[in-house]
Amino acid sequence: MLGKTTKGLRGFLIDAPEPGRLRAVRDGAMLIEDGVILAAGPWEELRRLPEAAGLTWLHSPEAVILPGLIDVHAHLPQYPVVARVESGLLPWLERHVFPVEKEFNAATARRLAPAFFEALARNGTTCAMLYTTIYEESCDEAFAAADRSGLRAILGKVMMDDGSYGGLKPEKILPLSLEQSERLCRKWHGHDGGRLEYAFSPRFAVTCTEELMRAAGALAREHGAYLQTHLSENHDEIETVRRKFPRHASYTAVYEACGLLGPRSVFGHCIHLAPEEVGLLAGSRSVVAHCPTSNLFLNSGIMPLDRWLEAGLRIGLASDVAGGPELNLWQVMRSTIESQKARSFYEPGVRVPTAAEVFYLATAGGAAALGKEALIGTLEPGREADVVVVDLAAVLPVDGRGNAHADLTPEEIITLLVYRGGPAAVIETFVRGTSVYRAPAPGLL
Ligand code: GUN
Ligand code: ZN
Repeated sequence: MLGKTTKGLRGFLIDAPEPGRLRAVRDGAMLIEDGVILAAGPWEELRRLPEAAGLTWLHSPEAVILPGLIDVHAHLPQYPVVARVESGLLPWLERHVFPVEKEFNAATARRLAPAFFEALARNGTTCAMLYTTIYEESCDEAFAAADRSGLRAILGKVMMDDGSYGGLKPEKILPLSLEQSERLCRKWHGHDGGRLEYAFSPRFAVTCTEELMRAAGALAREHGAYLQTHLSENHDEIETVRRKFPRHASYTAVYEACGLLGPRSVFGHCIHLAPEEVGLLAGSRSVVAHCPTSNLFLNSGIMPLDRWLEAGLRIGLASDVAGGPELNLWQVMRSTIESQKARSFYEPGVRVPTAAEVFYLATAGGAAALGKEALIGTLEPGREADVVVVDLAAVLPVDGRGNAHADLTPEEIITLLVYRGGPAAVIETFVRGTSVYRAPAPGLL
């Protein structure tokens, strides 16, 4: 019997169930029922299943079907100010970021947020963890746009009570920020069967009091929500935190004292960590959002990826828009490889990740970093069908249409995408089996 919501996709299936291991089915197919992957394997086998009877197969053997990409850290309201060059993080925040965030009222959010989610889907990203700004109304609008977009998203209203752009007296901000954040969490955390979730978002120790951070951590625990902040991105930032919290042994120790570390806490950047700080993060199963395009753009530094992985840190990849110039996670994968390569030229023994390893970090690794490994990140039956369909011909240097991947290995395909992938290659993006983006010009449809 053909279920009402059964969908069939045809293509070259590739996923990365473990770091560096690609699993692939050439001329493969996937059956999706009620948003969940029912079967994945050779098309010749799947087409004979009773669930496939009478099914119209979407796409073709020349398409490539991958798990949707997962971006674990970006700033929605900052999208208009990408690629604004400054010497470093703190002047960049003052001159470009705080002014654009200050303008992010409900009307701006209504205009910008839908375009932002469409850009994510156009890039093949199906799940993103995002900051909005300090305003409750525009965060609410961003959630509403995320809801309509069909994407999977974790959002949070920025909290800061020490050097905010909001204009309120610091003592007035704290209770208001907590009240508004909790209200948004109650409204949106777990919405649509968990497709939307809330992240309490104290910006970073530079612009937060200890009191606010403690309260944010407590709220995140109480509601079983996520927590996101920034950590050890830039030397001036680290020095500011050291002077502001002189009793604490390190930047990470400040967050530990405030109860912010834990398996549902995502720390952006984490470049310049001392060994004790790595120990605190690993011991608490905290998550690192690795943002290499941003780290290079803002002159922040190069995160020692191999050392953090060896220390057992959980790591996902992130565009960090507007620190990173694009929502394109293939570009972030490429930057992950190239920044480690640059490190390896002057630091002996550095292990440079392969394309398969960074693809893992952007899919199953990102899912594991967010605690969603049983839900998304691979093409296994039982997972929710968050997938991206890619036209390989669009990334080949000469038109390979007709027989694009006939003799390319899965490793070669993923490497091509890491170096040349982007919106031009995305044919269709699905979240829970529902199409959330379809390329206007039909590639291989
Ligand atoms: N640290 C505190 N806020 C921010 C931000 O908006 N972007 C980046 N890259 N770092 C930050
Ligand atoms: Zn950030």
